[in-house]
Amino acid sequence: MPLDLDTIRASFPALSTTDNGVPRIYFDNPAGTQVPKSVVDSMSQCLIESNANVHGTFVTSQRADQVVAGAHEAMADMLNAESPDEIIFGQNMTSLTLHISRSIGRLLSAGDEIVLSRMDHDGNVGPWLLLARDLGLEVRWLPFNTETFEFDADVVDEVITEKTRLVCVGAASNLIGTINDVKSICAKAKAVGAMTYIDSVQGVPHVSTDVQDLGCDFLICSAYKFFGPHQGILWGRREILEKLEPYKLRPAPEEIPGCFETGTQSHEGMAGTIAAVDYFSWVGETMASDYHHKYSHFDGRRKYVHAAMDCLFDYEAELAENLIRGLQQLPGVQVQGISTPDAMKRRVPTVSITVNNAVPDVIAAELGARNIFVWSGNVYAVEATNFLGIEESGGVVRIGPVHYNTHAEVDSVLNALADILPRANVA
Ligand SMILES: Cc1ncc(COP(=O)(O)O)c(C=O)c1O
Repeated sequence: MPLDLDTIRASFPALSTTDNGVPRIYFDNPAGTQVPKSVVDSMSQCLIESNANVHGTFVTSQRADQVVAGAHEAMADMLNAESPDEIIFGQNMTSLTLHISRSIGRLLSAGDEIVLSRMDHDGNVGPWLLLARDLGLEVRWLPFNTETFEFDADVVDEVITEKTRLVCVGAASNLIGTINDVKSICAKAKAVGAMTYIDSVQGVPHVSTDVQDLGCDFLICSAYKFFGPHQGILWGRREILEKLEPYKLRPAPEEIPGCFETGTQSHEGMAGTIAAVDYFSWVGETMASDYHHKYSHFDGRRKYVHAAMDCLFDYEAELAENLIRGLQQLPGVQVQGISTPDAMKRRVPTVSITVNNAVPDVIAAELGARNIFVWSGNVYAVEATNFLGIEESGGVVRIGPVHYNTHAEVDSVLNALADILPRANVA
């Protein structure tokens, strides 16, 4: 069966919610997605049947142990990790990164170079700037080409030097939507002996992610961006995780991954994350058979999840293409990102626009009043909005479809903008 959008949409209770009879159109997905009912059910079942701390001698605790183990296995499948032990759960990407950066910092010394990008969300910039300040590290900035919205390979070559010890870069931009060539950046970093920290908060929801193929050392994502609950997940290469000194309490586990999972985790969040991965597996098994052959080297859930991601990616590329084509026809609108129809494979469907003489927050509010949910501002990609020179003018309006959105919803936002923009004094 090909992608069956009606069945998919029926799985997400929030998609049929209305306000005063007006349906909601969720294009705020890069800031957080809606969840399938199976995620809600898994979380409430966990709270009813497995609600205890781990490693106890009684049944609810043993069930909590199973949830924790299952969540590590699910994410190992999602990211093609070699082992569930390489998966670390935490509150969110930001908290996990601030935390692990202290341990990574123990491997670095004053004068070492780290590479940060002008495209990244501050979650993959701020923690490293603080570390650089604390340790006296040298920060080298990786700029992107403001015409192509991509990193130029020769600039990557220049920025990574023999002194580079860590390269922090995003898999996909939450502002301009570019999918970066992480694999080649990791190869360049590896050639000089540098570690790589990949922010895939916006990659994992859209792109089949294989940490072994990418050749990175760390990759981080957040389940609430891929139809799960609010939770962060860090993958780290075992050899490096085992080398790091964990910042942990003394009675806490000494072994990975427990030594990096501080305090009591959200077991209900983990239960929801398992269900989110199982949701992709269901899509992959029942609707993405055309893609199974690409993952014949994987089995079971791992194969289905990765096939689903490719299938959903192709549909999202169609949505992005229609959205961008429509936006380009509106007066005064500039798409801040890759926009040629044949380049949709190089971007996720997150589309940001600026509009001549119009304030992004005002446009977002007008759309919100019509129950069309979009984000505006710098969306925490403050290096990128500064680099593009649009921070002062209020950043962007960001329209972020995912696979549960329809072409009709894309038309709705375009029609709404066609109505709003002439009144917004657009030149
Ligand atoms: C690319 C990117 N990195 C990091 C983050 C921060 O994620 P979290 O909210 O899990 O800390 C976000 C959130 O929007 C993001 O889009």
